[in-house]
Amino acid sequence: MGLRAKLRKKLLRSLLPPPVQVRHGEYSMILSADDDPAQPSDRLFTAALQGIEAARRVSLVPFYQTGRRFPAEADIWPGENYKLLAGLVQTLHPKQVVEVGTAEGVGAVILKRFLPERSRITTFDIKDWRDFRHPVFTEADFADGRLVQHLEDLTDPAIFEKHRALLEAADFFFLDGPKDGVMEPKLLKLFETVRFREPPLMVVDDIRLWNMLAVWRGIIRPKLDLTSFGHWSGTGLIDWTPTPAA
Ligand SMILES: C[S@@+](CC[C@H](N)C(=O)[O-])C[C@H]1O[C@@H](n2cnc3c(N)ncnc32)[C@H](O)[C@@H]1O
Repeated sequence: MGLRAKLRKKLLRSLLPPPVQVRHGEYSMILSADDDPAQPSDRLFTAALQGIEAARRVSLVPFYQTGRRFPAEADIWPGENYKLLAGLVQTLHPKQVVEVGTAEGVGAVILKRFLPERSRITTFDIKDWRDFRHPVFTEADFADGRLVQHLEDLTDPAIFEKHRALLEAADFFFLDGPKDGVMEPKLLKLFETVRFREPPLMVVDDIRLWNMLAVWRGIIRPKLDLTSFGHWSGTGLIDWTPTPAA
């Protein structure tokens, strides 16, 4: 978090102290739904219900037995989004997943484990997973070629162009970038230029964070807030199926 964001949070805390004491709290706002033009599609309801049902049976315990620095909170569900991600890819069987924001590799490792055997995951970050204090990836995760990391910024139009063929082929996205209020709208705008081969579903993390409220509200495609079954900071699902309004 930058200095400005830290100061803003400190000021907010003194003006509007949190009503409860919790490990981690963020400022957000509840917004009316009736005037949001983007309503969920049948496809979203089906995907969500099947993904949630599958998530109930997902166990992340084996990850803790591999000796990786796997974060304790990853297994909390609902509360964290990892079991939901696993349930979604288990039921949707995507062929090509694209994750934006890799960090230590927690999300990518889980997605890869629950993907069909021949499916692939490509993850983008501007920081190498090896440069994180507690990386979760190991070099072995990349050995079979099904997992690839690009250290590139997809919001740079030239980089986006370079990966256009990959993006066109992707059928499941996990957007988990910086949530700085700039990067995500820029990326979503670029996605509007992609002619997807199969209309993808996109999971967007942290949609209830202050910076993400306007981003989520601004999405005029069918969308569904799955926060109660995902991440406490907000989990959204977007259906990229072309609609007359899109
Ligand atoms: C919340 S973390 C991702 C966590 C990961 N998806 C997981 O579930 O384990 C956000 C990441 O976004 C990365 N990031 C920041 N700007 C980015 C950009 N322009 N493109 C891709 N990743 C970016 C940060 O370096 C950070 O590693």
